[in-house]
Amino acid sequence: MTKVIIVGQGGHSKVVSEAIALQGNIRIKGYLDDNYHELKYEKELYFGPIRSTKEILLHEPNIKFIIAIGNNKLRKMIVEKMGLKETQYLKVVHPKALISASATIGVGAVILANAVVNTDAKIGAHTIINTSGIVEHDNVIEDFAHISPNATLTGTVHIEEGVHVGAGASVIPNINIGKWSTIGAGATVINHIPAFSTAVGVPARIKVKEGDEVVANNIQ
Ligand SMILES: CC(C)(COP(=O)(O)OP(=O)(O)OC[C@H]1O[C@@H](n2cnc3c(N)ncnc32)[C@H](O)[C@@H]1OP(=O)(O)O)[C@@H](O)C(=O)NCCC(=O)NCCS
Repeated sequence: MTKVIIVGQGGHSKVVSEAIALQGNIRIKGYLDDNYHELKYEKELYFGPIRSTKEILLHEPNIKFIIAIGNNKLRKMIVEKMGLKETQYLKVVHPKALISASATIGVGAVILANAVVNTDAKIGAHTIINTSGIVEHDNVIEDFAHISPNATLTGTVHIEEGVHVGAGASVIPNINIGKWSTIGAGATVINHIPAFSTAVGVPARIKVKEGDEVVANNIQ
């Protein structure tokens, strides 16, 4: 039986824990979170700060890890800090997610209930396809992205690293969303979105905060 340590103990972690428990052949062996100050072993579970990874590996060399934190930047920071091999991460696919046989899913990715990952789609490492997220055919979703509940990516959308697509947002076909951008909840994206921007509304427009040097609505 595969054993796993879950990193993070917020709301997303609860949902990931349940998706793992439903699989039957994976046993949760503990939680790491920086709210703990030292490693404890209680009721057959480890609880400790993230830095205790190496100590756990001394006891359980074959154990896997999953970063169950919704914030993309934080998830990347933790992966860099832990410095594990790709094979030491688990990928979690909820039994009620629908994954095409031709789709590929990266290490540490989480695909939750009622999500669809369709034909030839590619899901990057440590990416989250949240509850009822739709990733249509030929999408490429790079590492550390988060597709929120009920968001719809139609065919051949390209989501670069670290992008957060908010709940219920839709993206029309053949659109590119630049790295570390955020698409607001409920937005409809009909143009390419440059890197590091926030776009909201229907149709989605770039939000420029006071003091930003970006020219308003610089959508390509
Ligand atoms: C887009 C978003 C990131 C902006 O957050 P923020 O930077 O804190 O922005 P603010 O709340 O300060 O709002 C700034 C402006 O954008 C508008 N705005 C914010 N979110 C919006 C949205 N989703 N759609 C339309 N307008 C939005 C606000 O009304 C405000 O407008 P104003 O400047 O005219 O007053 C956030 O509102 C959002 O939609 N996040 C997605 C959350 C989500 O889906 N999470 C899923 C977790 S599983």
